[in-house]
Amino acid sequence: MSSVLDQLYASALDGCRCAFPDGGDVRIARAPGRVNVIGEHTDYNGLPVLPTAIDREIAIAFTVSESVEVTLTNIDSRFTKKSFVLSDTIEPFDRGDWGNYAKAAGQALWRWAAENSPKSLPLKGFRGCAGGTIPPGSGLSSSSAMVVASAFAFIAANDLGIGREELAGLLARAERYVGTEGGGMDQAASILSKPGCVLRIDFRPLKAQPVPLPDDCMFVIANSMVEANKAGQARLAYNTRVVECRLGVRMLKTIARDDYPEVDSAVLLGDVMRTVPTWRAAIDDLPDGALDLADVAEFCGEKESEMRENCLKLRDGSLLDEPAGGFQVKKRCRHVLTEAERVSLAASAMSEGRLADLGCYMNDSHESCASDYEVSCEELDRLVGVLRRNGALGARLTGAGFGGCAVASVTRQGAEELLKGAQRDYYGSFNGDIESVLFECVASGGAGVIIGR
Ligand code: GLA
Repeated sequence: MSSVLDQLYASALDGCRCAFPDGGDVRIARAPGRVNVIGEHTDYNGLPVLPTAIDREIAIAFTVSESVEVTLTNIDSRFTKKSFVLSDTIEPFDRGDWGNYAKAAGQALWRWAAENSPKSLPLKGFRGCAGGTIPPGSGLSSSSAMVVASAFAFIAANDLGIGREELAGLLARAERYVGTEGGGMDQAASILSKPGCVLRIDFRPLKAQPVPLPDDCMFVIANSMVEANKAGQARLAYNTRVVECRLGVRMLKTIARDDYPEVDSAVLLGDVMRTVPTWRAAIDDLPDGALDLADVAEFCGEKESEMRENCLKLRDGSLLDEPAGGFQVKKRCRHVLTEAERVSLAASAMSEGRLADLGCYMNDSHESCASDYEVSCEELDRLVGVLRRNGALGARLTGAGFGGCAVASVTRQGAEELLKGAQRDYYGSFNGDIESVLFECVASGGAGVIIGR
């Protein structure tokens, strides 16, 4: 185990014993962040991804409380103490508040227990101290790790018998509590990953298959140092992409329905891909450029008001504002479906040790994320260029984008040169700890609970 993680556990334990000196046994619920090798913005379209857990984590040292109350402190004093009461409907704190991630897990498990284990109700809360080594807003899923770590604390406190795959699905839905329309990749990667492997995750039904990393292959993670603000602009841009994909489903159904009537039951772009073998031609037939909702409605022969209600509604019940520049449906569909194809190709390349091919798919993925999905930014494009020039076989943004990290594949032999070159060419003027922004990815195992020492 890395000494950085040992230090994290020790600080969380100290924090817990200090804040709650009268508490009983202390355990640690830990959940890793993840890096996604390829398959960006495919999960909420029901299409596969290829992430792995990393050796950066959220850890919560906790003692069980004998009531429904949860009290959470944090090693990092920027995150102030939070208390709340568990129930099946927990009022969120203000948007962006870190306590909402614990609330999301608590509410979801309460509802799960009501259906599957009513004797466990009322659930017991916990008193704990959280800390983490995943930089927030870096595209490495610090928020999902917080949800997952909280869930493991609740599960341990109440002895809930929920399986890992079921939990992954439950927490993917649970995290929508914070207002993002996310897919299920982050939670599944944090819960189901296996050391030394990446995970090919398919959705509906959730299935995770470990793909061992070839001996000679490793991944490097590099932070662009542009923080993607999950509670603000990045959230809006993300939700807009989700809506554009929904509009794409409607339009592609309109195009393909005569030849492939099965497409009529499609809900997600993944369903369209499965039922329309000529999906590439169907995408070519979509109109180019920006579309108003009225244009989309007319194309599909639907009423604009119905289209708004069916496609623009977010999980919290609010309606997405139409983006000033209109919806980009064709480009978004093209990214998502070609990206799904790249995931399968990359997984095969990896299991057959074809590293150069894997690198090419990663490069193509970045280009598609940048030009068709428009989730990159200047700094990420520059960073990806630096990584490629310094020996990466492939490099791309990872996670939602709009800032955050890039991931590069490299041979073991080339790793040192890559790290040195990237440090020189991208982080020249950075005077912090370089390992906090540029580091080797250690493909790690999924979340769990360990005994506090
Ligand atoms: C965020 C979401 C994930 C996924 C990625 C993009 O990390 O939480 O579900 O959609 O963005 O691939």
